[in-house]
Amino acid sequence: MGGDLVSGEKGDFAEHAQNSFTLPSRYYTDDDIHQQELCKIFQRSWLYVGHISDLPEVGNYITDEIAGQPILVLREQDDKIQVFFNVCQHRGHLLLSGRGHTGNRIVCPYHAWCYGLDGALSTARLTRDVADFDRANFGLKPIQHTIIAGMIFINFNPNATPEDGDLPEFEKTILGHLPEMPNFVAGHRFDFDIKANWKVIVDNFSEGYHIPIAHPTLATLYNEKGGASQVGKRYGFYQKTAKAGFKGFEAKGGEPYLTWFLWPNLCLLSLPGSPHLIVLRIGPNGPNQTLEHADIYSPSGADVPNLTAAKSLFAEMFNREDIALVESVQRGLASLGYDQGRYVADCNDSWFSESGLHRFHKQILEDLAKA
Ligand code: FES
Ligand SMILES: [Fe+2]
Repeated sequence: MGGDLVSGEKGDFAEHAQNSFTLPSRYYTDDDIHQQELCKIFQRSWLYVGHISDLPEVGNYITDEIAGQPILVLREQDDKIQVFFNVCQHRGHLLLSGRGHTGNRIVCPYHAWCYGLDGALSTARLTRDVADFDRANFGLKPIQHTIIAGMIFINFNPNATPEDGDLPEFEKTILGHLPEMPNFVAGHRFDFDIKANWKVIVDNFSEGYHIPIAHPTLATLYNEKGGASQVGKRYGFYQKTAKAGFKGFEAKGGEPYLTWFLWPNLCLLSLPGSPHLIVLRIGPNGPNQTLEHADIYSPSGADVPNLTAAKSLFAEMFNREDIALVESVQRGLASLGYDQGRYVADCNDSWFSESGLHRFHKQILEDLAKA
């Protein structure tokens, strides 16, 4: 394992899940560790920011704050998406907010410096007497991005490649199962403010061990059997199938029930019976707080069977159940009465054990140990 061995009050975090104690609780509460995660994980990884259908016309934009960094994604030309820091290069005021349409330029609300959709500074008021003022030096700072199955990913590290994030493998499985994903549109969006460290939420998504206990209704929707799992260094893909006769779903049985995890904070699921993708972005907001964006994408204009049922099941039932779980875990992690447990991992590396959780933590420690 890269990185130093990490120990807690009960024992060491180990290379193999079956031998390992869990990540000590300070990893979920400590502000210094949190800051390191922002620098060494979020500022170096591919991060999902939205789908191309969120920007249907030239001039459409979305803003976001990811790991403390304000970003601006916009459509510059029909076939060109641009991503910039959402920061005016005069004195640093943020440029746009929310999402919408900015016309053919971006005007700073503070002193009205104007930028083109390509990020170039086009006008700066009253600068005639400013010595050696070169507008070309004050364009918006770009952020590199790539588009996978219509999904826009950014990376604050200009040298990162899509291979670094396992994106080509991820693309194959997404397009293999949801070939229309590049044309999907968001029919529903939800934001959840959650009182838990971002990793508690990813942890919870990474294991099916809790499902029969904590989601009794969801547990009746699927069979554990499905196609083979695929696990890369920075992504995982798991397949299960539907059971027939689940109330509220038209399912014959056997339809795919799919979940993906993409490092570090993207969790995706497609419930059986309709082509759709529930996209969960787990946005850290301090060591004890997370903003989860949940967008549900599906084919536009069509009457998509089971989509409303999938939305209700997610938003009104199992995501609520999960939020209660992770907020309770965060309180426990912060208490003096807990530091470490054990990973309940089986030899098959199954999703119904906690193997994926251990793999996620191993990657956290490996990335934190880097310079
Ligand atoms: S800070 Fe934007 S114009 Fe002054
Ligand atoms: Fe859950």
